[in-house]
Amino acid sequence: MKEDPEPLRAPKGLAGVSVADTRISKSGADGSLIYRGYPISEIANNAGFEETAYLILRGRLPSKGELEPFSAALTAKSRVEEEVFTLMRGLGRDADPIDAIRTAVSSLGSIDREPTREEQEASLESKMSVIAANSLRVPKGEAPRKPKAGLRFSDNLLQMLTTKVASDYERWVFERVLILYMEHDMNASSFTVRVVASTLADPYAAAAAGLASLKGPLHGGANEAAMRMFLEIGDPERAPQFLANAFRDGKKVMGFGHRVYKEFDPRARLCKEYLRELLKRRGGDDRLYRLADTLEKEMWEKKRIPPNLDYYAAPIFYELGIEVPLYTPIFAASRVFGWMAHYDEQLVDNKLIRPDSVYVGPMGLKYKRMEDR
Ligand code: COA
Repeated sequence: MKEDPEPLRAPKGLAGVSVADTRISKSGADGSLIYRGYPISEIANNAGFEETAYLILRGRLPSKGELEPFSAALTAKSRVEEEVFTLMRGLGRDADPIDAIRTAVSSLGSIDREPTREEQEASLESKMSVIAANSLRVPKGEAPRKPKAGLRFSDNLLQMLTTKVASDYERWVFERVLILYMEHDMNASSFTVRVVASTLADPYAAAAAGLASLKGPLHGGANEAAMRMFLEIGDPERAPQFLANAFRDGKKVMGFGHRVYKEFDPRARLCKEYLRELLKRRGGDDRLYRLADTLEKEMWEKKRIPPNLDYYAAPIFYELGIEVPLYTPIFAASRVFGWMAHYDEQLVDNKLIRPDSVYVGPMGLKYKRMEDR
């Protein structure tokens, strides 16, 4: 009889295990992040959303002649069929927006009639922002907000998310946050997408699975959880007591910690600066910045755990007038570009992702009839 070979045991949570060679992006323990070879600050401070999406998907920055059709395709495919909104509406007013988006994306697998994988991906990339922006409104029975012709991707998303008029700087900041959310090597949702891609399922199935993984507060849900925490604390002076209570109760503090970044998250640093500048330019109340800064310092002093992107993205979204349940949907609207890059990369040299496990349960049990149990 053939013996099972002893499987390699991966550490819990696959921490420190490489599961793929990638050319898309890389985060490092030293607080570095590169997108296709470019340090994140190079991209975040200089590039536009569409340009970055092109870079992430195609591997290099586009020329003007390449960027125009790419950007146009994003608008051209953004019309969401009424049947999709009907399904979202059917979930009812209390639906979690991520559930509504996942349902919508899942339905696109049957409703969308795109013939090729490339067109399916482009369709998903452009529709995701419309679906995400409407994921709170539509289940409540409100009319969907539509994208407007001639607007850039980030401006379009913002005008669907909130009716509050944003200044040029605020719009620039929103675009930066989207760029920072776009891609992050082997995060839980991108890994999920790669697992689904490895079975040769279509991009809709992979994106729906990615959304499922994004929902949890340890991943995408952290930005909403962080904002609720800021609102609960309210005053910077209450931050130390809040942390003391969280430590006493053994609770995780949302928006802190990361599997890779142990010193600092470069995306959080950029967002902290954007938030500070945004409030400074407004000249009004900067309490939210002071609260986040106080809590960050206190957490570092007590636990040596730095804040992550979600921690500083949340107050930016709040200051832009976006409702809290839409924060994770915004993450999805941007991360779908990263997911599709991972989907494609997985298929270049595909092997079904099917790990092993070590069975530690009982053996050789005898079946007992129901009446004997
Ligand atoms: N609040 C309090 N303690 C935290 C913490 C947090 N946000 N993040 C990590 N820690 C502590 C853990 O309790 C653990 O302590 P221990 O060794 O005494 O048990 C230690 O730091 C290591 O954390 P662990 O959760 O095992 O590390 P990880 O690599 O598995 O976790 C996260 C990464 C992101 C899941 C984790 O930091 C977390 O849950 N953060 C909050 C949710 C969040 O913001 N997610 C968004 C990530 S971008």
